[in-house]
Amino acid sequence: MAARSLRVPLPATTERLILRLFTSDDLDDVYAYQGLDEVARYLPRSALTPDQCAQSLARRATGTAWTEDGDDLVLAVCRADAPGVVGELVLKLASAHARQAEIGWIFNPVYGGRGYASEAARATASLAFDALGVHRIFARLSALNTASVRVCERLGMRREAHLVENHLDGDRWGDEYVYAVLASEWQEANPTA
Ligand SMILES: CC(C)(COP(=O)(O)OP(=O)(O)OC[C@H]1O[C@@H](n2cnc3c(N)ncnc32)[C@H](O)[C@@H]1OP(=O)(O)O)[C@@H](O)C(=O)NCCC(=O)NCCS
Repeated sequence: MAARSLRVPLPATTERLILRLFTSDDLDDVYAYQGLDEVARYLPRSALTPDQCAQSLARRATGTAWTEDGDDLVLAVCRADAPGVVGELVLKLASAHARQAEIGWIFNPVYGGRGYASEAARATASLAFDALGVHRIFARLSALNTASVRVCERLGMRREAHLVENHLDGDRWGDEYVYAVLASEWQEANPTA
């Protein structure tokens, strides 16, 4: 069965957060974290310039397809009680045929350590399973990215692979973990989601 086209009820809300599509007005908020080297430390690319942020937002604002491998849904995460974007969740359709989606998260460190990333990731995974018919969600992350490992484990994702020295982190070999959860496991792992 092919994955469904985008039918996501947005904005989505959680106890403390609102998840919505990005607009060009979000540029300053996005550059505030995407422009930081510490945020890009475990990403497979450098920190973004203001121009790169603007291009990325323009692409996101043109709409989101969810039909072909590589299509992605990028959600701005805002607090319900304050203006501004604090981070983002990405859900990429890795295989439309097998309904596999890769999840990722990037947050402004100013708002770190409050559980926002885990809360937004849980909501995004629920959207993927309930509204998009995803069968399996996975995340790939540097084994050194302990904060991200904790997000995966809080969501009840299973560490399925430890890829040893599968990439170069600067001039050093780096390890990667693959975490995943199935639709059939999700409710039990997240009874309140
Ligand atoms: C990965 C990343 C999103 C994790 O951020 P984070 O702040 O650690 O994660 P959360 O927002 O879920 O916050 C969890 C922490 O808040 C704490 N917390 C405080 N108040 C809380 C509350 N009311 N509710 C829930 N958790 C709360 C939790 O105990 C937890 O702390 P711990 O990890 O020390 O145990 C962030 O480090 C980041 O953006 N990194 C750069 C980008 C990146 O590497 N992305 C991943 C690529 S694979």
